[in-house]
Amino acid sequence: MSSFEFIEVSIDEGVGIIELNRPKQLNALNRSMVREIVTALEQLDGNEAAAAILITGKGHSFSAGADIDEMANNSPIQLELINQFADWDRISLIKKPIIGAVKGFVFGGGFELALSCDVLIAASGTQFSFPEVNLGVMPGAGGTQRLTKIVGRVKALEWVWTGERISAETALAHGMINRIVSEELLMEETKKFAKKLAKKPPLALRLIKDSINKAVDYSLYEGMQYERKNFYLLFASQDQKEGMQAFIEKRKAQFKGI
Ligand code: CAA
Repeated sequence: MSSFEFIEVSIDEGVGIIELNRPKQLNALNRSMVREIVTALEQLDGNEAAAAILITGKGHSFSAGADIDEMANNSPIQLELINQFADWDRISLIKKPIIGAVKGFVFGGGFELALSCDVLIAASGTQFSFPEVNLGVMPGAGGTQRLTKIVGRVKALEWVWTGERISAETALAHGMINRIVSEELLMEETKKFAKKLAKKPPLALRLIKDSINKAVDYSLYEGMQYERKNFYLLFASQDQKEGMQAFIEKRKAQFKGI
């Protein structure tokens, strides 16, 4: 594992843990930090010791968004030449489950990072917002796209136009997060969920993620054809043989990840 300046990375009982570590700046995301997050995601994705990946923030908040100080004086030409958001595209290529444990402010790019997770567990009191409009801009790392695909055009327009804060309860009601827990239990509950996933057959987990992600972009017919291929592919795995044999023999399956 590389050493990082803005994040901390560890592995705990099969769960890779990425902690955003700029708490004094409310984990505002500068470009190097985003690159570190994506690099850590890729390293954990290729590391057999981690079956699932948990992302959280140190301190009070998950993240207050992109680093405004770093961004403020960029020109459009610079943003294009440095390809400002290119690293974000790589998050979509991560195959293992990504579970976000969010709290405090989940704003702007922090909200976009949260929406890039597969499962979101929020501490009570968490506030989500896209405040970019108040800076004269708009979300640029997938916010308008991912939010709309989850909550629909009507609420997405309202929330991104106004920049208003969305409570954890409202987020839950709109299917944006999986559950709310107390702040004290946030890490414990999220780790518990991640460890539960870490015990499942990993090939099935990754092809389930792959198939469900396709449902967002494909027609029902295309998606069903795609799903079928993944289903058939799993019959090449030893875990399928073991899982079904264990059921027949009425014993607990011992999955190997191959
Ligand atoms: N960028 C840079 N620094 C930030 C920051 C950000 N996004 N958010 C907070 N900080 C810094 C503050 O400047 C402050 O630093 P100093 O102590 O050195 O002054 C420190 O973090 C603590 O912040 P506050 O004192 O402001 O804390 P607060 O509790 O009073 O307010 C807040 C919290 C409401 C989140 C407020 O900090 C805020 O509005 N932050 C900006 C949120 C924002 O606009 N995010 C969107 C960024 S643009 C984007 O994300 C684009 C994209 O699509 C990728």
